[in-house]
Amino acid sequence: MAKETLQAAKKARQDEFYTRLSDISKEMRYYKEQFKGKIVFCNCDDPYESNFFKYFAMSFNHLELKKLIATCYIGSPIANTQLSLFDDEPIEEKTTKSPHKIEITEVDDYNGDGAFDLADVEYLLRNKKNVLTRLKDDGDFRSKECVELLKEADIVVTNPPFSLFREYIALLEKHEKDFLIIGNTNSLTYKETFKMIKEDKLRTGYTNFNVGMYFVVPDDWEKYHKIEDNNKLVRVSTSCWFTNLEVQKHKENVVLYKRYSPEEYPHYYNYDAINVDKVSDIPIDWDGAMGVPVTFVDKFNPKQFKIIGLGISNSGIEIGVKPYTMEHKKYRKEVQKRGAVDGDLYMMIDDVVTVPYARILIKRIGGTQ
Ligand SMILES: C[S@@+](CC[C@H](N)C(=O)[O-])C[C@H]1O[C@@H](n2cnc3c(N)ncnc32)[C@H](O)[C@@H]1O
Repeated sequence: MAKETLQAAKKARQDEFYTRLSDISKEMRYYKEQFKGKIVFCNCDDPYESNFFKYFAMSFNHLELKKLIATCYIGSPIANTQLSLFDDEPIEEKTTKSPHKIEITEVDDYNGDGAFDLADVEYLLRNKKNVLTRLKDDGDFRSKECVELLKEADIVVTNPPFSLFREYIALLEKHEKDFLIIGNTNSLTYKETFKMIKEDKLRTGYTNFNVGMYFVVPDDWEKYHKIEDNNKLVRVSTSCWFTNLEVQKHKENVVLYKRYSPEEYPHYYNYDAINVDKVSDIPIDWDGAMGVPVTFVDKFNPKQFKIIGLGISNSGIEIGVKPYTMEHKKYRKEVQKRGAVDGDLYMMIDDVVTVPYARILIKRIGGTQ
């Protein structure tokens, strides 16, 4: 298979990672107040398969939602074939794979068992007209029909296809929607995403940022990490939640205790800033610019720090990180092995060009503490 075809196939597979209910409820625990009276839209979610739909349908009354909308994309290779939320016979020609939407404005205790649960949602889908309707288009989140639903929505919650993450987030930003979505930590350094973080329009959620998440993958996958409830699971170590809703940790100051010393915090050769290897090592008494690991975004409180920019490649050049000087070009071969290019920050340690991992340049707001 040609390289491009292989890459496209890999991307398409990554788009078929299905989120576990436990991961959704773990993150959602913290947002109840922010969902009250809101219209929630899950726009990459086949209602029959998606745990996002399941979670919000089951929690409809608890969260006091105004409306829940979910739309299904025709392209999903497992649409209506697996991961069904409902064990019984198909509710409505489930095998046709035609894109559809579900809109719910109430969930009652239809079976009178004293609880609002999935059985009530199933009753609703079977018995109430206009809850489930066919879409005219293909259910693409960019389609006119889905964008109209987006305009109506207050908060979008889903795990969108990774391969379309840039477009996805741009659409949310364009329509100024609130969102709580799963993404890949690698996308933090995308130009558009990073700009949103810098401007405090996007932040990480509550779930531990560094450990990744398990996702359900289609049954025919041969490679997986474990099986849980008969589902094959794959671990993606670089998954995390992104949101523009309020998240408490981003309002709290990072507690700093270290003091600056030139030995521990070398200066970059090509930018006026010091290098800090761990966020917790940010010196309490340094007023100037500092390069910190990308994981800083998970602790970023815009009242404590200002982000100057990203100290890598073109983003680095844009904020004034100087290219390699001529006498250091001879080290470039070694440097390039580590992927370093002009615009990356580097230090001279014992006369050796030393390139740290990707760094974000920051500055404390209001001087030293
Ligand atoms: C990463 S999966 C997540 C599915 C579901 N949201 C979940 O979390 O379990 C992304 C889903 O988006 C669907 N999808 C792919 N391209 C899409 C598009 N252009 N518009 C809407 N959905 C799309 C895929 O078929 C897939 O079901």
